[in-house]
Amino acid sequence: MSAALPPALRAGIEALAGRFPGRALAEASQRLSADYRAGRGTRFIHAVDTAAYATARLPATYAAVAAALAEASLRTAFTPASVLDLGCGPGTASWAALEAFPDVGSVRLVDSHAGMIGLGQDLARQGPPALRDAGWRQAGIPAALAGAEPADLVIASYALNELDGSELDRVAAAMLSRSTGLVIVVEPGTKAGFAVIGRVRSALIAAGARLLAPCPSNGACPVSAPDWCHFSVRLPRLRAHRAAKGADVPFEDEPFAYLVAARPEIAGSPADARILRPPRATRAGTDFALCTPAGATPIHVPARDRERTRLTRRLGWGDAFLTCTTGN
Ligand SMILES: C[S@@+](CC[C@H](N)C(=O)[O-])C[C@H]1O[C@@H](n2cnc3c(N)ncnc32)[C@H](O)[C@@H]1O
Repeated sequence: MSAALPPALRAGIEALAGRFPGRALAEASQRLSADYRAGRGTRFIHAVDTAAYATARLPATYAAVAAALAEASLRTAFTPASVLDLGCGPGTASWAALEAFPDVGSVRLVDSHAGMIGLGQDLARQGPPALRDAGWRQAGIPAALAGAEPADLVIASYALNELDGSELDRVAAAMLSRSTGLVIVVEPGTKAGFAVIGRVRSALIAAGARLLAPCPSNGACPVSAPDWCHFSVRLPRLRAHRAAKGADVPFEDEPFAYLVAARPEIAGSPADARILRPPRATRAGTDFALCTPAGATPIHVPARDRERTRLTRRLGWGDAFLTCTTGN
């Protein structure tokens, strides 16, 4: 699925951006970026702050969620019919879920911030029917999960890092208990984001989940400090996005960390192995850093091995790697 926003969402954001003076939007956008880089929770005080989020950050969080959903589609034939979107903000993950799974008929969204919900409802008016009819609830994530109707896909994108660390284990277990299919968590591709993913990973496994991506198994995670498991997605920048960020380049790369987990009764299988960082190609061949069920495994594909080179040539950071091409 594409990293680019659906046309209706793109148009809604461009129209929203047009309602604020460019300078105010750019300043709010800079505050957001500073918060993001400092790993601080997002502060949305005025309408311009939520508008800046939709303009400057939503396209990137959308692209990261789209990448995680695309990977979910590769790992299982299960197609969700209902979505519960936690810490939904303007509804980013739900828009992406509807692109990935057009048969979704029911969407429920939760956020503690009234302004975000208002903005999400505005944007959703131009969205697909399931979004136009979605149920929005202003609540904290733990409280909302306690009474939530189950959904086939329970998703939280760029939200769990704003929870108190001590709440994470319970929230992850509750996400699985409220899911009738998949749980997907997406976080910034920073060390802090990966720490959240690591904690959620342990809690989901303890609660009985089966990991489908990016991990090749439920076994111990081989990635440890100073390294962290994350990936990157390239997305086109909107006109308003470029103006708000004061950027000339027509694209940006969003680093993200994620987890796709399934209830044990859902059929699906993880990749044999996952490429953990950009492959290094030299004249002698290509070096892949793989995560495998046996741990972190470097693989060298010699250039003289034409067949394996052909099979692995197009593979990049974050892709699945078939063990039949490792030569082991
Ligand atoms: C960075 S935004 C992410 C929004 C959206 N999920 C996305 O990917 O673009 C984080 C959102 O989580 C919400 N949030 C943070 N902590 C929360 C909590 N404890 N309960 C409910 N919502 C929360 C914030 O209000 C904000 O809208």
